[in-house]
Amino acid sequence: MTGIDLGARLAQTETIARQAGARALEHFRRRDSLAIETKRNLTDMVSIADREVETMIRDALSDAFPADAMLGEEHGHASGESGLTWVIDPIDGTAPFLNGLPGWCVSIGLMDDSGPLLGAIHAPVLDEMFLGARGHGASLNGRPIHVTERFDLSSGLLGLGGNDRVPPARLGQLHGELAAEGIAWVRYGSGALMLAYVAAGRLVGYCEPRMSLWDCLAAYALIEAAGGKVLPFPPAALQGAPFGVMGATATDYDRLAALTRFEAPDWEVLDRR
Ligand code: IPD
Ligand code: CA
Ligand code: CA
Repeated sequence: MTGIDLGARLAQTETIARQAGARALEHFRRRDSLAIETKRNLTDMVSIADREVETMIRDALSDAFPADAMLGEEHGHASGESGLTWVIDPIDGTAPFLNGLPGWCVSIGLMDDSGPLLGAIHAPVLDEMFLGARGHGASLNGRPIHVTERFDLSSGLLGLGGNDRVPPARLGQLHGELAAEGIAWVRYGSGALMLAYVAAGRLVGYCEPRMSLWDCLAAYALIEAAGGKVLPFPPAALQGAPFGVMGATATDYDRLAALTRFEAPDWEVLDRR
């Protein structure tokens, strides 16, 4: 895509992500008084914080970029004419957020027809801002970041996620297969933040069998800008369809793809409503 100033857009996205993070943090500090609703199951939760923060982000983006489309977890899709789509998860890691853990973030990404363009991931409690854009590199709190060159899947850490969209036994099988390979994995409850950790060189890779585009688009932009590789997502992702998510160092990408086999039919999505 020509004619857009990605550097300027990234700076504007950072400002919006900071404002959204500050609002989310106010809610986090008085989370005990937030009314919680459940979505697909008892641990799939949402509160006014998620909805209000997404509205704030969408209002700021549509003021600045009225021709762009938008896709957000809480308020869905809005069409545009520019060929660009903003992809928003107002709070990724709602479960850690509502339980008082620090590992949650605001995630704002931008994409065009050929994939992720830029991403901003802000973790307000941890005071970390991850930024990256195609051709512009990636940074954490203003310092350049890169996927790890020191560790690989055998010596470093893999981030792993899972939700109720996939058969529990199949997820358990993956855990076993990774353990059999001697791969150590961690899970923090925010897929977007763990993907950002891949860009920052803290994790060698991240994988989750079925996620939505808002969970990973911003972080995908970060990983690519930081020298890593991501599993391409299908066109139906823009309609909210879940798909296999994976990001890793270029060195370990093929090994992780062979281990996870997210295209295999036994990862078929369960009908959860
Ligand atoms: C969830 C988190 C979680 C992942 C789930 C996501 P949410 O997003 O990223 O780590 O395992 O698949 O749905 O609900 O906290 O925005
Ligand atoms: Ca999410
Ligand atoms: Ca969310």
